[in-house]
Amino acid sequence: MSEIANLKAGLIADIAAADTLDALEALRVGAMGKNGVVTGLLKTLGPMSPEERLEKGPPIQDLRESVTAALAERKAALEQAALDARLASEKIDMTLPADIGPQGSVHPVSQVMDELAEIFADLGFSVATGPEIEDDWHNFTALNIPETHPARAMHDTFYFPGSEDGKKMLLRTHTSPVQIRTMMNGEPPIRIIAPGRVYRSDSDATHTPMFHQIEGLVIDKGITLGHLKWTLETFLKAFFERDDIVLRLRPSYFPFTEPSVEVDVGYTLTNGQRVIGGDGDSPGGGWLEVLGSGMVNRRVIEACGLDPDEWQGFAFGTGVDRLAMLKYGMNDLRAFFDGDLRWLKHYGFSALDVPTLSGGVGA
Ligand code: PHE
Repeated sequence: MSEIANLKAGLIADIAAADTLDALEALRVGAMGKNGVVTGLLKTLGPMSPEERLEKGPPIQDLRESVTAALAERKAALEQAALDARLASEKIDMTLPADIGPQGSVHPVSQVMDELAEIFADLGFSVATGPEIEDDWHNFTALNIPETHPARAMHDTFYFPGSEDGKKMLLRTHTSPVQIRTMMNGEPPIRIIAPGRVYRSDSDATHTPMFHQIEGLVIDKGITLGHLKWTLETFLKAFFERDDIVLRLRPSYFPFTEPSVEVDVGYTLTNGQRVIGGDGDSPGGGWLEVLGSGMVNRRVIEACGLDPDEWQGFAFGTGVDRLAMLKYGMNDLRAFFDGDLRWLKHYGFSALDVPTLSGGVGA
């Protein structure tokens, strides 16, 4: 075999054996680069006589063409292989079961607040908020609790030292100041709920210094206790997801409602467990207090600059944490705020389980 035929066979074998694009590029430079062997041979053609070139030219041109073609072919093959490998490694098998659910869970308090917002949105209520650092006037005075009123002492209030613009500041002891803010900032008719944190200096198995309440307020014309009772009954049936919820309304006292009503729900004993639902007066049954409510006191309506002869309404307030305990069977309130991951894993809710009325709010 001639020298050129030998060179060609060697180069083509090397190119076919190149197993990476880098190795192939090194071969290309060695053959076709500025100082490559094939380039060197092409350069010898220039000074030749026409007769000599006619004889030696064709095998050298053939070498150049064959090596160029072999390089291109091998390059395409290596690139295809690299793409195939990448596609294979990035493949997702859509038929595999998904075992990586969302991490973390929704706290029962957040869950219950979402459930309440869903239930009341369906009844035409919107969600209102107010500051947790409140002034004395919104938290007490405007709610018909003057400075000398014993109810101020009952609330175990956290006061801030000093005062701001002559106002005594405190951590709100209930969500009722949102009633005042809503009536002063908007026009009736009003239908709101106001969930949020409240603070009282109290701590045992059923009391924590910070807890959650939800307030409800309706202001319109011709509102009666009947509307209040229907609303609470509808809400509690939806919340506990039972039709056999029985309410007991007891006369009570709150300075900001007149008349005032405390609401109990009946429970029955099932396997020694208190289960909400049924007549609390049945054997083994009983009543659990769930909320405070009443017709908004006309003095409160007046304090907000509205005419109580034109506008009436009802208000209610209840503990969100307590509702969560009753619905989901927890017995120590303090665990709600311990931040213990085991508790949260056990009692928490999936972030993907958004409460809906059609799907069952607690699903
Ligand atoms: N604010 C009252 C409390 O904290 C609850 C309540 C709200 C009662 C609205 C009546 C009307 O106990």
